[in-house]
Amino acid sequence: MTIIRPVIRGAGHYLPERCVENSEFSKTLDTNDEWIVSRSGIERRHIAAEGEYTSDLATHAAKAALENAGIAADEIDAIIVATSTPDYTFPAVATQVQARLGITRGFAFDVQAVCAGFIFALANASGLIVAQQAKRILVIGAETFSRIMDPTDRTTAVLFGDGAGAIVLEAQPGTGSNSDRGVLACDLNSDGRYRDLLYVDGGVSRTGTAGCLRMQGREVFRHAVEKLATTAEAALEKAGLTSAEVDWIVPHQANLRIIRGTAQKLGLPMERVVVTVQDHGNTSAASIPLALSVAHAQGRLKPGDLILTEAIGGGLSWGAVALRW
Ligand code: ACO
Repeated sequence: MTIIRPVIRGAGHYLPERCVENSEFSKTLDTNDEWIVSRSGIERRHIAAEGEYTSDLATHAAKAALENAGIAADEIDAIIVATSTPDYTFPAVATQVQARLGITRGFAFDVQAVCAGFIFALANASGLIVAQQAKRILVIGAETFSRIMDPTDRTTAVLFGDGAGAIVLEAQPGTGSNSDRGVLACDLNSDGRYRDLLYVDGGVSRTGTAGCLRMQGREVFRHAVEKLATTAEAALEKAGLTSAEVDWIVPHQANLRIIRGTAQKLGLPMERVVVTVQDHGNTSAASIPLALSVAHAQGRLKPGDLILTEAIGGGLSWGAVALRW
């Protein structure tokens, strides 16, 4: 039996030029490199320039992904951007990317699931491809979290960065077995009771302002390791696979301790985990496609490799996708 599999055909990313080392924060906050590295694993992050917006980052990443896939922009049927930091309340960042790429057909929309946004976007894109609504979809994660930081809050300001990553997801024939290339299974979850653990204290309807990110870090940490391991195992189980078969975990890059704790729970060594958090900080929905693109550019992901990708963020919302590269 032949079925449709959504396969990653190419990946690309973009980081703003300005790179901020941990030591810079010591000038304005009661913090230091040693604390930031030991608690989070973060050494540096990129920050968007004045006049540089989420759609700019997303467009750069999209162009890089198209080039990597070896396809032209007019071969794209849909664009999905995962972001919580859009240029405008509306229109969607995805439609601005569409225009910048010169695409005048198909459809484009944004998905908002905070740090889990790329997982939700990838699951949506996979569903649209399987339902034959599109053959090729640009799935992008793009954020300018620096714009919602409270620069006086040392518990959050040091953790986040800006960036974008993109993949081209393409319909290809599969056999229906879990040895097919492409997306094999997704697992999505949300529980709005945990809103207060991680939220932004402003918004269009409530305050008419963008607001600043607020987080109960220790509580988020506690939920993260447990929920990430559970969702990762659920995605693998749906695909009829076990963690022993995983070649690479490509986790949301929030905190090295969360990444380590989750890998440990899944029984996988750190040699099989793609880690970029030291160089990017937490770029929210951009972190997974950024990590995928970096690992791909380094030649670490081989065709047929089983990749497990997982994320959790504000909502709380969390999920995982099992796919073969
Ligand atoms: N520099 C120096 N000291 C600091 C800093 C800082 N930047 N930030 C906090 N501290 C202090 C605190 O004030 C506290 O001091 P106190 O004991 O005198 O009160 C002390 O360090 C310990 O604070 P904790 O919050 O208990 O530190 P913890 O070890 O939990 O690390 C951290 C904090 C890094 C936020 C951790 O809890 C974490 O990573 N949580 C997960 C949150 C996360 O990654 N969120 C991202 C969004 S969600 C997601 O993507 C998964």
